Amino acid sequence: MSNIGSYEERVKNFDWSIAEKELGYKEGEVINIGWYCSDRICEMGKGDNLALFWENAAGEEKRYTYDDIRVYSNAIGAFLRNLGVKNEDRVCLFMDRIPELYIGLVGILKIGAIAQPLFSAFGDESLFVRLENAGTSAIITQRKHALKVRKIIDRLPNLKHIIIVDHDEKRELKEREIAFSMESERVDTLEIFPTKAESPSLLHYTSGTTGMPKGVQHVHYSLISQYLTAKWVLDISENDIYWCTADPGWVTGTSYGIIAPWALGVTQCVLDSGFSVEAWYRFIQKYGVTVWYSAPTAIRSLMKAGDEIVKQFDLSCLRHLISVGEPLNSEAVVWSEKVFGLPFHDSYWQTETGSIMITNFPGMKIKPGSMGKTFPGIIGIVVKPETYEPINKSGVIGLIAFRPGWPAMMRAYWKNEETYKGKFKNGWYLPGDRAWIDNDGYFWFIGRDDDIINTAGHLVSPFEVESALLEHPAIAESAVVSKPDEINMEVVKAFVTLKPGFEVSEELELDIMNFIRKKLSSLAMPQEVEYVDSIPKTRSGKIMRRLLHAKEWGEEIGDISTLEND
Ligand code: PRX
Repeated sequence: MSNIGSYEERVKNFDWSIAEKELGYKEGEVINIGWYCSDRICEMGKGDNLALFWENAAGEEKRYTYDDIRVYSNAIGAFLRNLGVKNEDRVCLFMDRIPELYIGLVGILKIGAIAQPLFSAFGDESLFVRLENAGTSAIITQRKHALKVRKIIDRLPNLKHIIIVDHDEKRELKEREIAFSMESERVDTLEIFPTKAESPSLLHYTSGTTGMPKGVQHVHYSLISQYLTAKWVLDISENDIYWCTADPGWVTGTSYGIIAPWALGVTQCVLDSGFSVEAWYRFIQKYGVTVWYSAPTAIRSLMKAGDEIVKQFDLSCLRHLISVGEPLNSEAVVWSEKVFGLPFHDSYWQTETGSIMITNFPGMKIKPGSMGKTFPGIIGIVVKPETYEPINKSGVIGLIAFRPGWPAMMRAYWKNEETYKGKFKNGWYLPGDRAWIDNDGYFWFIGRDDDIINTAGHLVSPFEVESALLEHPAIAESAVVSKPDEINMEVVKAFVTLKPGFEVSEELELDIMNFIRKKLSSLAMPQEVEYVDSIPKTRSGKIMRRLLHAKEWGEEIGDISTLEND
């Protein structure tokens, strides 16, 4: 029997207080995610239970009990506090998937500071805009990533502390750098900051349509949604071995890669290495993973590697599979059922929603290609694009819309009230996606309603890439759209015009690609650069990405009456 039991019954009798009761929380009381993820589990007498199995590409292994999480997060919290970090100060986590990243987030939350996780593959410019916008006061990082911080530190007067978790005594610490070794001391007590439901917890940056990345601000009360969705959708319980493949630089890696599993007291596994089919199957077998939360790009890559390789491993430990981040094609669901004997259950949500909104629940009939139904307590519909009126007809495509008010809903875009307000229309929150609903209430995803590129499940803003491209000495103008890709679904493609004196060449294309990879990240790096004579723009000077996009995808171009250079 799954944790959710009957979906219909849960919908009928739903109230978020179910989670509040299970967590022992009452309205108005202190609620601190850091405490829930460690101290509470220990107070329940489960301090010796394993919280984390960790392994890296070199085969190094570490394991941590809940008591370890408690004392080491205390150590991080105490260290930050001694440096003068206060509640609501922003503390950035900029690390590979090392234990300090996971435990560090718990420590930051315990002192009431705001955790700002950033993907460690970000280049210096991606890092700079996010640290500057957040006014971040401390960053916890590794030696190799500190080099990127050093490059931008002069432009970040608010960044007072660069905390290096793997400092080598033989090297010199540079300006504002300080060494910290998490496991040097088991700090038994730490005064937990008395955060309340609405106290800020996390700041996750996500790509915008037009402007720079937006800081999505969450609160400690988000735990209520994260806990219950993990319990009912991921179906995890204390005896599971759980593997969430997402990096905590992104929201899945925090909501369901740190907060929910640890608040549920489950043992989770982390593999700190890049993707490899064999390494993944071996990892599942070695740790006996029972619940696996992954993403379509990875599933498509596994699928491509074929069925034979699956047979070389004993994966009979697997019990429940879930996917998130991009459209899960029906072939992937059918394939996983064939090779693992289990279908992948799609789940749909976003950084702003903080927790799963639409999903195929355990035990529910899966319609391959559909995202499933709304989580109990979530009111989700599709609305007309122009009027935001509900579409009360099945099969008609509209904008996905949710009635605001679930616990994990973002509370603000950091210092960007106008954009935040723009996400609400007619009393609905609009995530910016299009879908249709069938007669049984299942949602079928169509696509985004803006120019944001979803490559391998990661959102990339064309605006951010276009701006970075303009800093390349050879580029006069740029436009960025997605192009289709078999594995990643979409990849970044750049159209550029060159400044006088620069010649079209393959070397230049490679140079442009690398320029973006270093400045932004490998995800944002164009997989193709096309040289053009001019960039299509509207008469008001806006880049007509729609036109370039349509060409790449072989779609109808539509109305081009506003085109300037036709
Ligand atoms: O467009 C939707 C797509 O990813 C966006 C959210 O991205 P992000 O904020 O980075 O969060 C990713 C992980 C929660 C959505 O607006 N998306 C997410 N899940 C799905 C999806 N598209 C199709 N199917 C999904 N299951």
